[in-house]
Amino acid sequence: LWLLLGIRRRHPGEPPVENGLIPYLGCALQFGANPLEFLRSRQKRYGRIFTCKIAGQYVHFLCDPFSYYSVIRQGRHLDWKKFHFDASVKAFGHESMDPSHGYTTENLHQTFMKTLQGDALPSLIETMMDNLQSVLLHSDILKANTTEWKVDGVFAFSYKVMFESGYLTLFGKEFSTHEDKNVARQEAQRALVLSALENFKEFDKIFPALVAGLPIHVFKSGYSARENLARTLLHENLSRRKDMSDLISLRMLLNDTLSTFTDISKARTHVALLWASQANTLPAAFWSLFYMIRSPEAKRAALEEVTRVLESSGQRAYMGGQRLMLTREQLDNMPVLDSIIKEAMRLSSASLNVRVAKEDFLLHLDNKESYRIRKDDVIALYPPMLHFDPEIYEDPLMYKYDRFLDENGQEKTCFYREGRKLHYYYLPFGSGVTKCPGRFFAVHEIKQFLALLLSYFDMELLEPNVTVPPLDQSRAGLGILQPTYDVDFRYRLKGH
Ligand code: HEM
Repeated sequence: LWLLLGIRRRHPGEPPVENGLIPYLGCALQFGANPLEFLRSRQKRYGRIFTCKIAGQYVHFLCDPFSYYSVIRQGRHLDWKKFHFDASVKAFGHESMDPSHGYTTENLHQTFMKTLQGDALPSLIETMMDNLQSVLLHSDILKANTTEWKVDGVFAFSYKVMFESGYLTLFGKEFSTHEDKNVARQEAQRALVLSALENFKEFDKIFPALVAGLPIHVFKSGYSARENLARTLLHENLSRRKDMSDLISLRMLLNDTLSTFTDISKARTHVALLWASQANTLPAAFWSLFYMIRSPEAKRAALEEVTRVLESSGQRAYMGGQRLMLTREQLDNMPVLDSIIKEAMRLSSASLNVRVAKEDFLLHLDNKESYRIRKDDVIALYPPMLHFDPEIYEDPLMYKYDRFLDENGQEKTCFYREGRKLHYYYLPFGSGVTKCPGRFFAVHEIKQFLALLLSYFDMELLEPNVTVPPLDQSRAGLGILQPTYDVDFRYRLKGH
C-alpha cells in the first residue's frame, strides 16, 4: 500500500520524513502558502534536517546554518546542473544548454564569468550609468515644468527606469543616443523597450507555474509575451544594434559557432538572460528605494555619502550639466548604500538553493551526525530561515538601514548564532557553484540608481509612515519577492 500511494517510509539513518496529506502534492500547498512558517514549524518538530514530499519530489530541508557548507561545498555527490538546465528549458523553451545533451558545447558558466565579472565590469557600469541618466532625465519621467512634483508608484517607477536602462545596457541600442539626435527615432526606440517591459511582466507572472512544470500553452498571454520578446531578440535583429554588452555579443557568437540551436531557440536563450538580469533586480531596486525614502535617517546618511563621493571627484548634479560618472572603485566605497540595499534584500529575498543527489550517500552535518540521502532526492537550503532568525538579526522584521555597517561605518561581516560566528548569514544570490554571476553588477546598478535619484531629485512618500506592503509569497523560492501592491511617492528636480 505504501508503494501504491507513492509514500515513502523512513529508513534507518534517514532524516524524518513527512509525506503530507495529499497524494503526489504532499506538503506542496502548506509549503507554498507560507514557506518560512512551514519550515520553522517542521524544524521545531524534527530538528536540523527533515524530508518533505513536495509535488512528487522528496526534498531534504537543511536548516542548520553551520552545516550549510556540506551542501554548498560538496561537489561529488550533488548535482546542480540538472535542476538548473531543466528549469530553464521548461520556462524559456530553448533546446537544452547542457553540453551532455549534445545541442551545444558552450560552457555557460565560463561565458558568464568572463562577461559579467572582473575586467568586464567597468564597461557595464559605465554604460549603465549613462543609460540611467538618459532615462531619468527624459521628459517621460520629468514634468514639463520641472519645478513641480510628479507622483508615481515606487514600484512602477523602479520597474520602468531599471528595466529600460538594464535592457539597453545588455542588448544595446538601435541608435546611439549621442550620435543620433532624431527625436522621432529615439521615441520609437523607447516605445519598443517599454513594450518589452509589458511583455516581460506578462511572462514573469507565469514563471513560477512554468518552473513548477505546467506547460506554457496553458497560458495564452504569457506564451505570446515570451514569444514577442524572443522575436525582438532574434540574431537578425540583435546584429543591427549598437553598444551591445560583451555578454550578449559573446553569447550570440557561441550560439552561432558552438550550437545547433534553431534561430528561435537562440533567441529564447537571450530571453532567459533578459529574465535573469531583470527578474530579481527590479524588485530589489523597488525595495531598496522604498525603504530608503521611508527612513529619514537612511535617506540622510545615503545623501551624505553620495555627495561626499561626487564632490571628491569634483562632480555636481544639475539638469543640463555634465553627466555624472561613478567608477567601480567609487561604488565599492559606498558602505551606506551597500547596507541599505543589503537590508532591503534581506527582507525580501526568498530563493531556494537546491542540489540533486547523484547517488545514495551520507550527508555529514556540523554536529557530527550524518544522514542517508537517496539518489535523485533534492537537498534544499532556504535562506529566509537565516535572514529572519532573531538570534542572528535582532528584531528581524524591522528595516535597519545600518544593520550591515560596523562601528567604523564599514561593511559588517561578523554575525553570530549561539555565540558562534557564522560563515553563511546572507544568501540572496544563492551559494556555491550556482551563485549568481551577475551579483556585482546587480548591486552596482542599484547603487547607481539610488545615487542618481538622490543627486538629481527631491523624493518623498505621499504617506510618510505608510505600512510596508506584504511580500507576494506566490513566488517564494524564486528570488526577490515583489510587493502585493504599489506605494505612491512624489519627486521633482532638485534646486527648486
Ligand atoms: C543566477 C539572484 C541579478 C545573471 C542567480 C541565482 C540567484 C540570483 C539566487 C541562482 C539561482 C539558483 O541557484 O538556482 C540574483 C539577484 C539579483 C540578480 C538577487 C539582483 C538583485 C542578476 C543580474 C544578472 C544576473 C543583474 C545579469 C546581468 C544571472 C545568471 C544566472 C543567475 C546568468 C544563472 C547562472 C547559472 O545558472 O550558472 N541569480 N540575481 N543576475 N543570475 Fe542573478
